Amino acid sequence: MSRILITGAGGGIAKAVLPVLHELGHSMLLTTRSRTAALESFLKDAGIDAPIFQADLTLDSEVDALFEWAQENGGLDVLVNNAGIAHAAAVWKLDAAEMERLFQINFFSAVRCSSKALSILRAQEGSGRIINVSSVVAHKPTFGTSGYAASKSALEGYARGIAIDVANQGITANTIAYGYMEAGMLYDVPEAMLGQIKTTIPKGAFGDASQIARTIDFLINSPFTTGQTLHINGGQWMP
Ligand SMILES: NC(=O)c1ccc[n+]([C@@H]2O[C@H](COP(=O)([O-])OP(=O)(O)OC[C@H]3O[C@@H](n4cnc5c(N)ncnc54)[C@H](OP(=O)(O)O)[C@@H]3O)[C@@H](O)[C@H]2O)c1
Repeated sequence: MSRILITGAGGGIAKAVLPVLHELGHSMLLTTRSRTAALESFLKDAGIDAPIFQADLTLDSEVDALFEWAQENGGLDVLVNNAGIAHAAAVWKLDAAEMERLFQINFFSAVRCSSKALSILRAQEGSGRIINVSSVVAHKPTFGTSGYAASKSALEGYARGIAIDVANQGITANTIAYGYMEAGMLYDVPEAMLGQIKTTIPKGAFGDASQIARTIDFLINSPFTTGQTLHINGGQWMP
């Protein structure tokens, strides 16, 4: 049993993942930027008892407050950097200011949280997990995804760097690269494009997001797996 802090817990993927992590016996600390009431009602219906903290992870002060709250609520063993946004813009329309805004959410939020989490995990001596969330798009971009792909690729490199720095302290850092999962931001993609994307997935279907929980559980129970990117994409991209 681990205590898992999950960011972006109000989103579609998290809602599929939380019940399975609960079933597997993990306890959770949840954070959402804006969907506290909806998340509370979801947890009540699902019979999950997990505290929620509302924070905008682009703000240092709110991340500081989040980790103080986490410590007051029993601390953590695992951080899942799941918060993120989709982004679509042709590369010639994507200037540095827009790219910086995107990185603030998709990359620097994970840096802020990992830095705080690592102070706690290192003091606990001997265990801890950092799990970043990337996308198949980082490996197989489609038109207009250069910003999103870059921000997710940065997360993968960051996880590998963390893995090296804390390898001898019992802490692992890995990335899970989701393919197109039947949840959350998938529904922001226009219908016609979804049909086209599905033809590029050998499995012939979008993924069941709840299975991501099994990969998180695997990483929690795998102290020798570190610095890796695990792909859940129905065969759409193979390393
Ligand atoms: N769905 C897919 O097929 C797919 C595929 C590949 C990768 N992913 C990745 O999976 C993760 C979850 O995606 P999803 O599909 O569940 O998307 P989603 O439903 O849009 O959820 C995104 C979550 O991120 C949070 N968030 C966004 N900006 C934030 C900020 N500034 N501060 C704090 N939290 C913030 C949102 O907070 P609120 O709850 O307040 O809105 C929400 O909980 C993302 O990193 C995404 O890139 C998804």
